[in-house]
Amino acid sequence: MRKNIVAGNWKMNKTLQEGLELAKGLDAALKGKSLNCDVIIGTPFIHLASVAAAIDTKVIAVAAENCADKESGAYTGEVSAAMVKSTGAEYVILGHSERRSYYGETYEILKEKVQLALANNLKPIFCIGEVKEEREANKQNEVVKAQLEGSVFNLSAEDFSKLVIAYEPVWAIGTGLTATPEQAQEIHAFIRSLIADKYGKEVADNTTILYGGSCNAKNAKGLFSNPDIDGGLIGGASLKVDDFCAIIDAF
Ligand code: 13P
Repeated sequence: MRKNIVAGNWKMNKTLQEGLELAKGLDAALKGKSLNCDVIIGTPFIHLASVAAAIDTKVIAVAAENCADKESGAYTGEVSAAMVKSTGAEYVILGHSERRSYYGETYEILKEKVQLALANNLKPIFCIGEVKEEREANKQNEVVKAQLEGSVFNLSAEDFSKLVIAYEPVWAIGTGLTATPEQAQEIHAFIRSLIADKYGKEVADNTTILYGGSCNAKNAKGLFSNPDIDGGLIGGASLKVDDFCAIIDAF
């Protein structure tokens, strides 16, 4: 059966020292607890190796927030999937709407990144979701379908099974607006049906689909109690131990 996951995405927050403090605080808070979900923290590249060394990665897995679309070589400033893997990270967040909109990441670029991540034994957390205008025009289903078809439906069923999907409506990210549990459940079920059409029911049933967008301690339970919502990808509320733990406790 699919896993429940609560994953943090720190984005461009925390110095190395602050990040280590946060990771160690979370590690201490979760120590010895019996958890009903897997826990992941997505950190900036520079934190990865130190964070992975400072925590029990069997309890809290580490994710990068991005990786390069090239294998290696003269790409100044880029960080390859192999480099990410060498830090002890297990996951990589790819296709976040902030990467798509601010850094021009196209379906093709993301397709390369996903393939390189998988080739380096990293598990992609692949983000999809519509912007406000698309939701208002009731186009959210076609948007997420195109995003999946454009970057990940080329994969074999075996490779696709290594992905976690995160549905993040762009209008809900960092805005305090959350999709209602009904809105989120509806589109999560649609996403699962697309996966079933492409890869069959078993793969679809085993795919973890996270919700992201102003998820917090107050609304997590209402979202996670839906059959097709398998956890959350958490931005702002992952930056404080207590807030993040309260979301984990929603399971
Ligand atoms: P917020 O939880 O801050 O809305 O961010 C969500 C997100 O983008 C996680 O990737």
